[in-house]
Amino acid sequence: MNLYVVENSDEGGKLGFDLLKKAIEDKHIHVLGLATGSSPIPFYNQIIASDLDFSDMVSVNLDEYYGLGADHEQSYHFFMQQHLFNKKPFKTSYLPNGLETDDIAECARYDRILEENPIDFQILGIGSNGHIGFNEPGASFETRTQKVALTPSTIQANARFFNSDQEVPRFAYSMGIRSILDAKQIVLFAYGASKQYAIQQLFEGPMTTDLPASALQNHPNVSIIVDQAATGFLTNKK
Ligand code: GLP
Repeated sequence: MNLYVVENSDEGGKLGFDLLKKAIEDKHIHVLGLATGSSPIPFYNQIIASDLDFSDMVSVNLDEYYGLGADHEQSYHFFMQQHLFNKKPFKTSYLPNGLETDDIAECARYDRILEENPIDFQILGIGSNGHIGFNEPGASFETRTQKVALTPSTIQANARFFNSDQEVPRFAYSMGIRSILDAKQIVLFAYGASKQYAIQQLFEGPMTTDLPASALQNHPNVSIIVDQAATGFLTNKK
């Protein structure tokens, strides 16, 4: 794993964008794995400001809240439209369907999409408890798409986007850790002191399902882009 410490999230977005541009130029990549949350927004802004054309590319998102439709302002469909797709359309953009109540069928559908569209370049954020996508602590590293229960800390962290804790969905559809590890290249953004535990464990802790992001330790091509605050607990900051 390569660690990049940047001044702020704008600089992090630029660095992530440079990595993407290089992958497009050198490897002609075709499928992007995308993430929601505040951390990837500066990266999406770089994409929007660029002259890169994504109309031949496919995007596959990590996750979606169970029970929220694309027109719900807090759905990840809505987020992606607002922060990227309205301004940079892709040929096809896939997200889990939060309104599908048959979770076995929905997970199988999403796994098929992933099989047909192997991810070349995956963007990740990280939860303060080390979750990636919505793979919460305890999730097996062998999972593919699943309906998952959100932990109280994740519900609380995401409550800022809703009117109250009560409105935060309790479940989500999420790509599994196995699916994330299948991506050929991974770029993870983490900013702020609330991420310092997760970042410290990611670099200096054991590989354990207690910290889902630690699954990345064995991946051959991972870049972690953080600000100073997120490195607060690292003992080795070189
Ligand atoms: C949510 C998303 C994750 C994201 C995390 C952190 O839980 N499902 O994919 O990484 O939030 O979000 P932020 O970047 O806003 O800190």
